Order: sequence, then structure tokens, then C-alpha cells
Amino acid sequence: MDRRELREQNRVSWNAVVRAHNSHRGDLSRFFSEGGTTLFQEECDLLGELEGKSLVHLQCNAGSDSISLARLGATVTGVDLSDEAVSSARDLAEKTGTLATFERADVYDWLEEASREGRHFDVAFASYGVICWLHDLRRWARGIARILNPGGRFVLIDFHPAADIFDRDWNHVGDYPYGGESVLLEEGVGDYVAASGRGLTPSGFVEGVRDFQNPEGCYLFRWGLGEVVTALAEAGLRITALEEYPYANGERKFAGMRELPDRRMIPPEHVPTVPLMYGIRAEKNWQPATFPKQTRVPEA
Ligand SMILES: C[S@@+](CC[C@H](N)C(=O)[O-])C[C@H]1O[C@@H](n2cnc3c(N)ncnc32)[C@H](O)[C@@H]1O
Repeated sequence: MDRRELREQNRVSWNAVVRAHNSHRGDLSRFFSEGGTTLFQEECDLLGELEGKSLVHLQCNAGSDSISLARLGATVTGVDLSDEAVSSARDLAEKTGTLATFERADVYDWLEEASREGRHFDVAFASYGVICWLHDLRRWARGIARILNPGGRFVLIDFHPAADIFDRDWNHVGDYPYGGESVLLEEGVGDYVAASGRGLTPSGFVEGVRDFQNPEGCYLFRWGLGEVVTALAEAGLRITALEEYPYANGERKFAGMRELPDRRMIPPEHVPTVPLMYGIRAEKNWQPATFPKQTRVPEA
């Protein structure tokens, strides 16, 4: 199923929230001109050297991370569904004098179009709150594999689905996600930037829009970690790293989060360790993968 109408609703919900998110970010142009970065160490470690590389940043939102990536020497193309996010990203690129281009598109449409047009990248990157917007992981992974150069890499860093079994107050309220089940969030995309304070605003937190209420609902898709890894492997990508982290970068999604250095948020002391974030690096082989012929197990 294409779920296009759900994705379209997600575009509207994201468009509604971008202004509120932006209102909390301090002076980003100044922050970048003073050498700031919005990237965390974890994605930098997974990405490795970027100088001279072509990089597509999928679901790039308002472009702060894309600008940070361009400042590490990559030629960056950002792609996002939200008109407002892409317009903010273009603005930021212009204000900071950064050579990065931004394309407004649904990620599935973009991957298919890019592949038809023969576009290829050394690196594809997606981060922090991306998998939950995808209704078809196999199609997404195949699309990524097609637009990577041989030897190219895909890096994903996202919030861990294990944390989805808890509500905000750490009560165990749900099952581990599986199968891409769609869930309507009537309250829409929230102002998680305000809720995270300095955690998501390294350029300085500004009070900005208060008590934002999104009039537009959105649809999320619930996937387990194994399904993400399997989709990438089935698309012919070789998984070279799968990291799980007991903290979440920047986002204060749960009550009582304690802050460690580098804006890492860990649960309060009474909560057992649980992975809150994971990172994957996957590479496209120079040679197409060949699989040994399957031997049939003789029936007893
Ligand atoms: C939580 S944000 C990702 C954060 C981002 N990495 C950053 O640097 O701020 C999720 C983004 O996914 C985008 N998105 C959701 N569904 C999409 C789709 N089908 N195609 C492209 N982008 C999509 C949203 O517009 C939103 O900007």
C-alpha cells in the first residue's frame, strides 16, 4: 500500500510545527560563523571522513545538520517532505553562505526519481526521528542502495524502538514496535524542541512560541530494530556497524531525564538501563552481492 494520503497529512502536520521549532533556536547564522556544529559525536564517528564526498541528507528537516555536514567538506543535498522545513533550510544556507542544496520531496518519490535520473552519492545520511515516518522499509532501503556509489555508505542514527514501550513517565504501556503498524497521533507533530530546551538548541535556547498546539494530526509507523537492519541487508547493503546507546542525544522525551556532557540525556536513576538510540552504518559493495545457492534440507 502506498499510504500517500497519510504521508500528505504528515507534510501538513510538519509544515504547521516548523515555525515553532525555529522560534526556539538562537542565532544559527552566528553560531555557524563562529564554527559551531549541530552534529553529535555519534553520527560523526559513523560517518567518518566527509571531505570531498557527495552526501544526501534524507529527511533533513530545517537543515541545521545539513549545513554542519557541508562544513565538514561534503557537497550536501538535503531532502525533506515539509515545504516550511525546506524553505528554512534554504534560508539558512543563504544566510551562512553554505553551498548546500535542498529539495522538497517525499523520500520515496525522491529516491525513485534520483535513481531514474542516474544520480549517485558517496554517502546517504538520515537521523533522529526518521524511521517512524516510513511506511515501507524495504522500498526505502532499496531506494538508498540504488542511489549510492559503489563503496558508498549509508548512516542512520535514530531513537531506539525499545523506548516506545514506555509513556512519558516511564510506565510500561505498550508492546515493542513491529510490522510498521500505523498510528494516528491526533495531536500532530509536537514542539519537542521547546520540551528539550538546550538539548536541541546548541545555538542557544529562546523561549519563542509558547504552548504550541498542532491543529494537524500525523501518522507514525512502528518498526522494530531488526526490521530496519533486515531491510538494509536485503537491499544488498553490508552492515558494518550497529550501535546501541543507553542515552538519547538532545531530546528530553521522558520525565526526569538527566543530562550528561555533550547533551546526552539518560533516564532517571530508578529506571533500568534501556537503549534509547541506535546507529547503523551500511556499505554498498563494489561488487554486487552473490549468495550461495540454497541447498534443500532433505525431508526426514
Ligand atoms: C524529526 S525530523 C528529522 C530530524 C532531522 N534529522 C534534523 O536534522 O533536524 C523528521 C523529518 O522527516 C520529514 N519527513 C517525514 N516524512 C517524510 C517523507 N515521507 N519524505 C520526506 N521527508 C519526510 C519531516 O518533514 C521532518 O522534517
